Amino acid sequence: MNIGIDQISFYTPYYYLNLAVLAERNGIDPAKYYNGIGQEKIAVPAHDEDIVTMGVNAAAPLLQEHGSSDIDTLLFATESGIDQSKAAAVYAHHLLGLGQNCRCVELKQACYSATAALQLACAYVARKPEKKVLLIASDIARYDLDTAAEATQGAGAVAMLISARPNIAVIAPHSGLYSADIMDFWRPNYRSTPLVDGKYSTVMYLQALEHAWQDYQAQGGRAYQDFSAYCYHLPFSKMGIKAHARLARLNGADPRREDTQDGMQYNRLIGNSYTAALYISLVSLLDYREDLANKHVALFSYGSGCVGEFFALTVCPQYHRHRYRDRHRAMLANRVALDYPAYRRYREVPDGRTGDFFPDKDTPHGCRLEGIKQQQRIYRPA
Ligand code: HMG
Repeated sequence: MNIGIDQISFYTPYYYLNLAVLAERNGIDPAKYYNGIGQEKIAVPAHDEDIVTMGVNAAAPLLQEHGSSDIDTLLFATESGIDQSKAAAVYAHHLLGLGQNCRCVELKQACYSATAALQLACAYVARKPEKKVLLIASDIARYDLDTAAEATQGAGAVAMLISARPNIAVIAPHSGLYSADIMDFWRPNYRSTPLVDGKYSTVMYLQALEHAWQDYQAQGGRAYQDFSAYCYHLPFSKMGIKAHARLARLNGADPRREDTQDGMQYNRLIGNSYTAALYISLVSLLDYREDLANKHVALFSYGSGCVGEFFALTVCPQYHRHRYRDRHRAMLANRVALDYPAYRRYREVPDGRTGDFFPDKDTPHGCRLEGIKQQQRIYRPA
């Protein structure tokens, strides 16, 4: 059975900060951000956006086009959850108007959990091929101000329909897995920003890649030369370049620029979107490349803490016809740049603890957070 991604689309906030603005504020050469970490811009969510609104806005075009009658499961992957108990999936389920005979759950393991959700969805669809799973991965990456990590912030959401008759890509059954209990990046319940050992995290990412690749080979996965492109989890795009160089070296090959560059176009403009980042890289690859029909693409998913998974997909022959490329490009082209004071204003996020909060209507379209009243979040559907 060919199970895989039937449709995929992403959303990123309306505002962004050009990293030249942050460089000027920090007295840093902008080339450090543009070339050293490989990022141009970071998405900045407005006060009326959160993981739920971004996820709903990513999923809306899929449901508008394909309806929702065969969806009986909504998996929501995130590490910037809005509630310790109630799943973001339940809010999204309501806002998207899905039928009530549906299971909704939130999954967490740093940036990795969307990949766990994808594998769970494929296994479920193998059992119920007449059903589809809606998978949303949505995150806001915020680090402490005036730290090295600040330039690697970002935000975005991706939505996928997983089905037994996919139009975009078939997920191959082989996976290479790696888990290790390490402290490279974590966020205790009382903190709104993570603690991160940045340099160590980059070393651990590469180590996890190496182990996951070795396991992928041991499980009977494809050879390095079989792949037409590689997508990596992209906390910043230079990380993907380093990862690919490491993998190529392990396989006695030279890393080719064309293996990774199309998969990095969107992420360079959005920044880290944690669970969504790998899949926004996949969307970027599909939107930029015209020659992927029947080709194999390798993916490496990494979540700090840590879990890594190396796996692969085969692109469907008619994927061009099922892309949301124009929509994605228009969304990015229509974003608005923030100056430094405006960026700082959006960094202060009232959470409703100290009283009701009604944000300005900042987002021009789509689902938005209308307010927090008596500690309950109130959303307005698109
Ligand atoms: P830093 O202090 O900016 O590092 O922190 P740096 O001083 O080494 O500079 C970075 C690069 O810029 C270096 O290149 C410099 O040479 C270069 P490299 O040696 O690495 O190739 N550079 C310049 N290039 C051109 N012109 C210049 C210039 N100056 C310097 N003028 C760090 C970087 C990534 C550590 C920091 O941003 C950070 O802590 N980020 C957050 C953690 C992170 O993203 N880790 C990635 C791996 S872990 C992961 O991916 C999981 C994660 O997504 C979370 C999750 O799973 O939930 C984070």
